[in-house]
Amino acid sequence: MPDGQKSIFITGVGSGIGRATALFFAKRGWLVAGYDVNQDGLTALQSEGINGIFERLDVSDPDAVREALGRFGNITQGRLDLLFNNAGIDAKGPFAEMPWERIEQVVSVNLIGGLALIKAAFPLLANTPGSICLSTASASAIVGAPGRAVYSATKHALKGLTEALSVEFASAGVRAADLLPGIIDTGMLSDKSKAMLPPQGMWRPLPASAVAEAVWAAYEGSGLHVYVPEELSALVLEAASQPEAIRDRRIAGSVF
Ligand SMILES: NC(=O)c1ccc[n+]([C@@H]2O[C@H](COP(=O)([O-])OP(=O)(O)OC[C@H]3O[C@@H](n4cnc5c(N)ncnc54)[C@H](O)[C@@H]3O)[C@@H](O)[C@H]2O)c1
Repeated sequence: MPDGQKSIFITGVGSGIGRATALFFAKRGWLVAGYDVNQDGLTALQSEGINGIFERLDVSDPDAVREALGRFGNITQGRLDLLFNNAGIDAKGPFAEMPWERIEQVVSVNLIGGLALIKAAFPLLANTPGSICLSTASASAIVGAPGRAVYSATKHALKGLTEALSVEFASAGVRAADLLPGIIDTGMLSDKSKAMLPPQGMWRPLPASAVAEAVWAAYEGSGLHVYVPEELSALVLEAASQPEAIRDRRIAGSVF
């Protein structure tokens, strides 16, 4: 790895936000290390000609996560500028009807995976001036989304984790932040849901490249919670001041 080259470690790189972020940072000369369970997605990204490291990794396996960070650290002389904890899975449907195995799977990927990743990456981040640990939470971490209860719980957990680590890691010179995307046009968004979305405002669908730009802004800036789009900050105010109004609106049948 050339002296002075920065590095980003991305999970969930096989599609959507992770893939867009890999392409964005590669274009800017960063060493991109991308991980996913989806081998086809990794192969497709490699065929873009990116000079990087692409490996199959299931983030819900903490031993495999530690080993991947170990191999990465050997290549970068123990440095990591940006950890992008991004892999996640959605789970739609009523909580009462969701099979227990599915609940455990969502928690394992979205939360346990993130915890394992951050813990294993911390020594590398602490060894790198200006480093940041960035997680993809969600607008469901502002207000829990009905029909996505477990998903919302994991995203709230990531946000709380980020707030705690942003203080704990400060003495080591490592920043922690999270991204709270609204609706991003990736494989997670069905055509049916897309057709119901407004063309403007905080719930308009945005391309994955908008989140890649927010990752860059998070590295360059000093924010703790990064909303994509910024209009979501209005929801934060309402969620804090009038949570019952949001609840009652949704019970009455409003989607948002
Ligand atoms: N798309 C949205 O509207 C939206 C909104 C808010 C937050 N998010 C979050 O953004 C992140 C990226 O999602 P996306 O929208 O790009 O969806 P996506 O489905 O296109 O990408 C998710 C990637 O994670 C990978 N993945 C799944 N399980 C994994 C595992 N166990 N180990 C490693 N990789 C795994 C998938 O193979 C896939 O490539 C997720 O954390 C998601 O919750 C998405």
